[in-house]
Amino acid sequence: MDRKSFVVALDGPAASGKGTLGRLIADHYGFAYLDTGSLYRGVARRLLDAGADPGDEAAAARAAKEFSLDQIDGRDIRTREVGAAASKVAAMPSVRAALLDFQRRFAANPPGGARGAVLDGRDIGTVVCPEADVKFFVVASPEVRARRRWLELRAARPSLTEREVFEDLAERDARDAARADAPMTRAEDAELLDTTHLTIEAAFAAARRVIDGVFQRC
Ligand code: DC
Repeated sequence: MDRKSFVVALDGPAASGKGTLGRLIADHYGFAYLDTGSLYRGVARRLLDAGADPGDEAAAARAAKEFSLDQIDGRDIRTREVGAAASKVAAMPSVRAALLDFQRRFAANPPGGARGAVLDGRDIGTVVCPEADVKFFVVASPEVRARRRWLELRAARPSLTEREVFEDLAERDARDAARADAPMTRAEDAELLDTTHLTIEAAFAAARRVIDGVFQRC
């Protein structure tokens, strides 16, 4: 395949900081950005809206085949229910297969003529773009991740406790890492970026140092 674009893969568990980092990297380098979790969330949202069971693989595969980004425009896909259902549909091989081409096309031909793409998810460096130019595996302690996610969610849901968020994340991470198909795992050639004690500015600076180093060699 012709190398058309510079690809940055960002993988790691929920609320590790990879989404914020991905947007900053994309803005800085003029790359397109894809939050691949939003695809699984979009499929989950669609099933929930239709009153279907998120465990129904045939219905989930159909929703994944028909998926397009405009389906999630303005939709609330950041709720606890959608997160839990997304992790279930993400364990289904037929759903993953249906979403794979879209992600690869985005990486190879980023929209808007961008010269690169940043994709964040769980399997970008291992399955979607194993030949990405730069790969990061972004982690943070479970406590710090739960706190970050709780701060994001609590305005919309004041009764939510930090403990509930901690338990949700632990359950999703365990499912995402244990599934047979494309489990969340660090690619051998991915840089480990631990954001537990880093501000977002410091994490972004660390990522830029790695990316700039690769750019110079290209
Ligand atoms: O990053 P997120 O929380 O929005 O992801 C939602 C779910 O989708 C999460 O449980 C893991 C799954 N996912 C995946 O399996 N592969 C990806 N590339 C991205 C997300």
